[in-house]
Amino acid sequence: MKYNNQSPIAVVDSGLGGITVLRKLYKLMPNEDYIYFGDSANAPYGIKTKEEIKNLTVKACESLMERGAKAVVIACNTATSAAAAYLREKYPDFIFIGLEPALKPAALSGEYPRVLVLATPLTLKEEKFDNLMARFEGKAEFIKLPAPELVKFIESGNLDSEEEIAYLEEILAPYAGKVDAVVLGCTHFPFARKSILKILGENVLVFEGSKGAAKYCKLCLEEKGLLNYEDREGVISFENSDGNKIEASKRMFYYKG
Ligand code: DGL
Repeated sequence: MKYNNQSPIAVVDSGLGGITVLRKLYKLMPNEDYIYFGDSANAPYGIKTKEEIKNLTVKACESLMERGAKAVVIACNTATSAAAAYLREKYPDFIFIGLEPALKPAALSGEYPRVLVLATPLTLKEEKFDNLMARFEGKAEFIKLPAPELVKFIESGNLDSEEEIAYLEEILAPYAGKVDAVVLGCTHFPFARKSILKILGENVLVFEGSKGAAKYCKLCLEEKGLLNYEDREGVISFENSDGNKIEASKRMFYYKG
């Protein structure tokens, strides 16, 4: 593993969802280079076993580290749950940035708010999530809602399709007008933000972890002297285990939603 402050930042996800994190990273650090790797050939991760997800995530991260990435952003709540602790223990000096559902700002957004947490089945059933939820006991009411099908709709690259909206209506209608906030605990879900709000109510507060992860990534790079201070425009390389997803990746990077 050889890297310096001009090396790229790697961003990995099960597919196209991590692009929502890449967008925040690029906005904050536009002079850095990025390699975005989406594992769409194996998506969705959220319905696989923890062991399967861990193996896929470790393989993707190690290959990017061997190619000289100076940090890896695991831009996937599910992959973070399954593999981040293992990777941090195996490579204690390397920067791994993980994503986790943004329960804290949601819990603190009001007086005992009702918070709907949308994520993958794996994220919601992990002990890591229960421990996170326990930290805010008495501060908010959390309602867990797995939305595995939503990942597939977003992976298709056909955003806001009729089928996607019908699925969202089916799972979200029981909560319409009944929650104060929603946590998008899967990096694919911000691509459906508009449709989610249309159903839940436009005044529902939305929380996601991507901005915080981008800020934390910058801080870690700064601390290790690995920020790129050159005055330049960074280059993003889109890679995917399914070669047909490269065009959709680029389009979704510029999606306004
Ligand atoms: N983007 C991922 C996350 O943040 C999961 C999607 C999947 O199930 O593959 O949890």
